[in-house]
Amino acid sequence: MKATAVAQPNIALIKYWGKQDDALIIPVTGSISMTLDVYPTTTTVELLAEADKDSATLDGEELRGVERERVTGLLTHIRTLAGISTFARVTSTNTVPTAAGLASSASGFAALATAACAAYGLDLTPRGVSRLARRGSGSASRSVFGGVVRWNRGGSDESSFAEPLTWNGPELRMIIARVSAGRKAVSSRRGMEQTIATSPFVDGWVRSNEALVDRASEAVARGDVTALGELTELSTLRMHATMLGAEPPLRYLTGESFALFDAVGAMRDDGIVAYATADAGPNVKILTTAQHAPKVRARLATTFPHLKTIESGMGGAARLVSGGDR
Ligand code: PMV
Repeated sequence: MKATAVAQPNIALIKYWGKQDDALIIPVTGSISMTLDVYPTTTTVELLAEADKDSATLDGEELRGVERERVTGLLTHIRTLAGISTFARVTSTNTVPTAAGLASSASGFAALATAACAAYGLDLTPRGVSRLARRGSGSASRSVFGGVVRWNRGGSDESSFAEPLTWNGPELRMIIARVSAGRKAVSSRRGMEQTIATSPFVDGWVRSNEALVDRASEAVARGDVTALGELTELSTLRMHATMLGAEPPLRYLTGESFALFDAVGAMRDDGIVAYATADAGPNVKILTTAQHAPKVRARLATTFPHLKTIESGMGGAARLVSGGDR
């Protein structure tokens, strides 16, 4: 009745932004991501017969408010599926700076769904676990899998899940340039609601990004890093353009973020494989290959000597590290 799981964060190449169903977290468009091999989250779920409610800590601090509700909401759903009413204690440790646009919720909910299924004796397929993780945080549906992952938009709880794609190209790397490790100004949850409710660009976003998911899936199958990189930048900038159209505008990128996009463009002019992406925060992530990663880092070190960079390869799927036998 106790299980521990580890999951890795992911960075979207084709972005998810906006929900068609806020409660079930069904997105307005599909998305594609790369699972990282850095910043794992480790989560233990322990059933406590004497407990009268769930409790959850993240890095030793008791969760409260919305964050706590997201965890207890997922546990309640898992209990219903398992037919067990016992409450649980959740203990989670993150190695990624929380809420800094580096997808800590993705690894967090993928680890929670994996550990909670094992602790409650729920034997689901990875697709089933992905659908559960999705209810905690949309991007977590993708962190259930390793490598390059596609989250199919779907239109219901049943049809909205992630699945792994087969990358047939050169070994990928993601270089994270940490513009800021602070908490983001507007959470992705609130930012998405604000965008969907007020941005006049939403229709164009939904239509065009769904097409990018298909084009990027084809690029992945071909192992075409140039096409995948170009589509990655395109989806990123269209997402930020849609956010900028919200009222009030959502402006996550800073001048330094844009300077990084410029620097990445200059690298390409010099024959370096490099494509920039950014999420709901100012940090810039650069998609490159194992062969070109040292050149990207060398250029960053010269142009932005004050920025901390982290290099990541492709990470594996969420996995159980202990427990699960009841
Ligand atoms: O799953 P959330 O609520 O953390 O939203 C993630 C949104 C982006 O990171 C901006 C894009 C994405 O697809 O991961």
